[in-house]
Amino acid sequence: MKHLRSIEELGVEGIVRILSLSEHMAQVNQRPVPKVPALIGRTVVSLFFEDSTRTRISFETAAKRLSADTMTFSVSTSSVNKGESLRDTVETVSAMGVAAFVVRHKTSGIPWQLSEWTDACIINAGDGWHQHPTQALLDTYTVMSTLGRTPSATCLAGLRIAIVGDVRHSRVARSNVQAFTALGAQVVLVAPRTLLPPGVEDWPVEISSSLDEVIGDVDVLYMLRMQRERMNESLVPHLGEYSQRFGLDERRATLLRDTALVMHPGPMNRGVEMVVDPATLPGNVITRQVANGVSVRMAVLFDVLGGSEATTGVQT
Ligand code: NCD
Repeated sequence: MKHLRSIEELGVEGIVRILSLSEHMAQVNQRPVPKVPALIGRTVVSLFFEDSTRTRISFETAAKRLSADTMTFSVSTSSVNKGESLRDTVETVSAMGVAAFVVRHKTSGIPWQLSEWTDACIINAGDGWHQHPTQALLDTYTVMSTLGRTPSATCLAGLRIAIVGDVRHSRVARSNVQAFTALGAQVVLVAPRTLLPPGVEDWPVEISSSLDEVIGDVDVLYMLRMQRERMNESLVPHLGEYSQRFGLDERRATLLRDTALVMHPGPMNRGVEMVVDPATLPGNVITRQVANGVSVRMAVLFDVLGGSEATTGVQT
C-alpha cells in the first residue's frame, strides 16, 4: 500500500491487514522499551493545517516507536491556503527526502491532490468533512479487540452500532460507517434531521431521530463531537435542547446494556453530547481508543512504508 487516503481505497482486505498488524504493534507497545528499528532512516513529516492534539501526537509517537525521524510542520488554518502555497510547501519539504506525509487539512480531497505533487506516501489524518481513516481503523480495532474477536472480513458481524450526533460535519462518521459496515456490523445513525448529510439515504445504514428508542438495543454507542466550529448555519435550536435529546446523560446511561461499549473520538464536549462522566460507565473505552490509536498508526506507517517484519521482533 502506497497511501492511506480513505477507507474505501483501503478495502476490506486492507482493513483486515492493518488490524492484524495492529495486534503485533500492540505487543511491541507492551514491552518495557516499546521501540523497534522498523523504519530507521525514514522521515515522516506531519503537515497539520487544522488543530489537533491527539491525532498529531499519536502519529508522532507511532513514528518514533518505529524509529523513524519525525518533523512537524504546524500551520494555522488562516495563514496557508490550498493551491500554490500548499504545493510549494509540499515540494520544498519533499525535496529534503521525506518518506511519508501525515496530512490534516480543512479541504476535502487534499490527500489526493498532495499525492500528485510528491513521491512520498500520503496518510490522511482528516480532510474536511470527508475522511479520517486512521480514526476508523483504531475504532474498529478497539471494538474488535475489546470483544475478544480476531481480525477477519466478518469480525464485526452481528454487532449493532449507533453513531450519535453531528454526522453531517463528521469525517469520523463517514469513515466509521464504511469500516464498520465493511466488516459486517449494522450501523444506525441517530441525529436530528438537520445534522444528517445530504444523500444519507444512500448510505448502508438505518436512521433514527430518537436516542431513547435505540440506546437499549446497541452493542456500541459511538458519540460524536458537536462540531461547533463548523456550524455557521443554525442547525440546532440551541445546545441545551440538543443535549437533552441526543446527549448521553445519567438517565440514558441506565438504558444501556451492561455489555455495551461507549466510544467518542475526542475532543469531548462535556455537558453537550457527553453529560454523564464516561469514567463512571462500565463500557467506557474512550481512553482505550486513544491507546490503541498508537498501535494502529504504527501499523499504518509500517504498511505504507513497507517495513520489514523481521525488524519488529514479533512473530507473525
Ligand atoms: C476528530 C477529528 O478531528 O476529525 N478528532 C480526532 O481526530 N480525534 C473528531 C472531531 O474533531 O470531532
